[in-house]
Amino acid sequence: MTSVTATAQGKVNLHLSVGDARDDGYHELTTVFQALDLTETVTLTVADVHQGVPAEMTDLVGTVTVTGRDASKVPAGDDLADNLAVRGVLSVLERYRDDLAGVPSATFPVLDILVDKGVPVAGGMAGGSADAAAAMVATREILHGPAAVDDGFDRTPRPDDAILAELAGRLGADVPFCLTGGTALGHGRGDVLAPVLTRGTYHWALAMDPRGLSTAEVFARLDDQRAAAARGERPDQRAGGPADAQRALLSGDVDVLAAYLNGSVANDLQAPAISLSPDLRRTLAAGMDAGALACLVSGSGPTVAMLCRDRGHAVDVATALSSEGVGGRAVPTTTAASSRHGARIVAPA
Ligand code: C5P
Repeated sequence: MTSVTATAQGKVNLHLSVGDARDDGYHELTTVFQALDLTETVTLTVADVHQGVPAEMTDLVGTVTVTGRDASKVPAGDDLADNLAVRGVLSVLERYRDDLAGVPSATFPVLDILVDKGVPVAGGMAGGSADAAAAMVATREILHGPAAVDDGFDRTPRPDDAILAELAGRLGADVPFCLTGGTALGHGRGDVLAPVLTRGTYHWALAMDPRGLSTAEVFARLDDQRAAAARGERPDQRAGGPADAQRALLSGDVDVLAAYLNGSVANDLQAPAISLSPDLRRTLAAGMDAGALACLVSGSGPTVAMLCRDRGHAVDVATALSSEGVGGRAVPTTTAASSRHGARIVAPA
């Protein structure tokens, strides 16, 4: 049976400025994404071959199994439509079906999907988006890779990376970044990407919050806070442009990056995330007390990313937080380093 394994990375946002809400419910934003070496692994196995166009595309999904970090929190079973790995698989299969229109004797793979998680769930680190990205490149490989002709597939042109990126944007704002990975400037919903030059490797201690936060709720709270600011009820503090973050990354100097993160509002979603989950304020302070160079909420949170000097320093900060907890609460932690990878096939190599 043909099997393909792909990986994709989680991320932090080193800069995230949010603009106005759009008619489609999304907000215009400018962000600097950086991939981390926290990895989602998606393995697809051809369990069966379906003759002809299926009545329902979900007929092409066999078993869905989730293992690894926070696996129990990932939709599986009856909630398949909410599982981003499943949605990634289906998006590429739907494209294949549409391209095949009119081809008699079309055959489709029925795919068993195994997701092994390394990125915290609902943590603001794009774990679900990474599942979608890995699932997309794995599905393309099943349909167009070396085994595809023997398996009865590969009847259409292989979709290139630009086509996958377009499909990815329909699945979620962060999915296109998870395809390309590395360090990138995002505009629009975060899905219009340009690479960012960066030097060096950055090390992080990460403090997770098992309660998670809904991205949509964090954006909605930001809208509420800005409405309150417009009424003069609170200060309107906003992130500036991405240039300082880009300059810091180009310097390759962790102290320059720390000075940028400490010296300005780096993430417009931090205040609304704290408003929804006030313990975050304590976690941010505990990270600084433990010796981190700078701390920020990752994306829409609630993971707190603590910038450290090197890997050993990150282990020390992570250990200090997990052993002491914050405000009497246990704080699970891990460490991560920046990664140059995006979604890629890892097996067969
Ligand atoms: O695209 P994704 O599913 O990751 O987005 C989750 C939610 O976050 C959206 O439904 C929207 O409410 C909010 N969001 C936003 N503006 C963005 C990205 C996400 O308002 N640029």
